[in-house]
Order: sequence, then C-alpha cells, then structure tokens
Amino acid sequence: MAVIDEIGPGFYRISEYVPDFDLQFNHFLVNDDEPLLFHAGLKGMFPSIRDAVATVIDPSRIRWVGFSHFESDECGALNQWLEVAPAAEAVCSTVSALVSVNDFASRPTRGLADDEVFKTGKYSFRLCRTPHLPHDWDASVLFEETTKTLLCSDLFHQVGKVEPLTQSDVVGRSRATANKRFATWRSSSKRFLAASQLGLDSSPIARLAPAMPPRPPYFENGHSCWNWNAAANVKCEESRPSTLLVAARAAVKSQL
Ligand SMILES: [Fe+2]
Repeated sequence: MAVIDEIGPGFYRISEYVPDFDLQFNHFLVNDDEPLLFHAGLKGMFPSIRDAVATVIDPSRIRWVGFSHFESDECGALNQWLEVAPAAEAVCSTVSALVSVNDFASRPTRGLADDEVFKTGKYSFRLCRTPHLPHDWDASVLFEETTKTLLCSDLFHQVGKVEPLTQSDVVGRSRATANKRFATWRSSSKRFLAASQLGLDSSPIARLAPAMPPRPPYFENGHSCWNWNAAANVKCEESRPSTLLVAARAAVKSQL
C-alpha cells in the first residue's frame, strides 16, 4: 500500500516500499493548475499509486506525467495514466521521446530540449539533460524554479524505508547504497572490458552491424552513445571496424 506525505507546498511524495528489494519506489505529485505526476511508476503498482493520488486530487485531472528516463519504474504505467487522465501528456527529454516514448505511449509525447521550461501554473519546471546520469543516455532531471526543488530520479538513491523529509546527510547514505548495490554492475562492466579486449586481440572483427544508421545533424551535440555509432559508421567505411569496441571500452571505463 502506497504512503503519501506532503513534502512541500503542493508537493507530495507517494511511496511504496518493497521488502524483497528493501527499496522504496517514490512518485511525486505536484498539485498545481495543471497537476504533474513525476514517475508514472511500475504497471503493477498503478492501482495503489492511483488510489494515493485520489486522496489529494481526482486522478483524471493529471495534466503531465513526467519521468527521467525510459525504464519500467519510471514510466511502465504511463499508458494507464493516459487512460485515466484524458488531458494528460507524457513529458520527458527529446531523446527519450524520439527513441522510446513516442512509440510506447498511446498518445503523443511532449519532448523537452535541454534547459527548456514548462509551467504547470504557479510552478515552472526546467528540464536538465543528464545523459547517463543516473543512468541511460536519455536521462534528465526536472528543476522547479520557485521552490528550488530538484526532481532527481535515481540520483541520491538510498535503500530501506526512508523518511519523506530529512535534514541529515543524504550523500553519505547514497554513497553507501551505491557501493553495496552497484558492485554487480561494476563487475559485469569489467567482464565486458575483458571480453572486448580478448576479441580485439585474438580474433579481429571483420564486419560491424550497427543497430543505428548515421545520426542526423541535430544529434551532433549528443553524448558518447551517439558518438560510438557515429565513430563506428565512419570507421567502417575506412575498414577499421574495431574502432567501435575501442570507443565503447573507453566510455565504459570512464564510468567505472
Ligand atoms: Fe532508473
């Protein structure tokens, strides 16, 4: 059962704790002229999150459903929200909209450019693109400029049943969680590095089959993922396909 707490004027945290993961899934409702829900949440959690929203506003009034990146806990229940709220629109980064959400969502999505602001009434939200932070290249965060509230998704991630408001150190707790939880990710990334090194040294790649064609110009200022593909395509033409793995290894290494 989701628990709801008002954490600021018109800002509500709706939290569902999952003991198996020792983890809370948090969703934020902003009750303004055009109500915003940040994190649509998992499909399986939709009934309890909807019931929690209903203790504050009629869920059909939700106008915006925002999230950081395309992932089940961020937007798995997006279409359920679009169904209960006829005027609702998904709002996310343009990369997220173009790559995933426009295809996934049952209605068109509002993709925001880096630094673009949208208003919900008295509140103004600025989208800040943060590729690969917390993770996934389409990631962004939303900054509410009146209350100086950062809707920061997985950043400062903590385990346990965490209180809705605190004045204590969140960075230390977050670092402890990262050290514990991300050990697996780090070791799988290291395996990738080892495997790619083996491939380059013992059986050079003859051909690459990039999943994506060369990018149109508006991605020129994108991040490393686009650059990997751009590099792969350029170098393929030069018959040096192993460049992709070299670039991928460097990018993964830089994130370890
Ligand atoms: Fe995530």
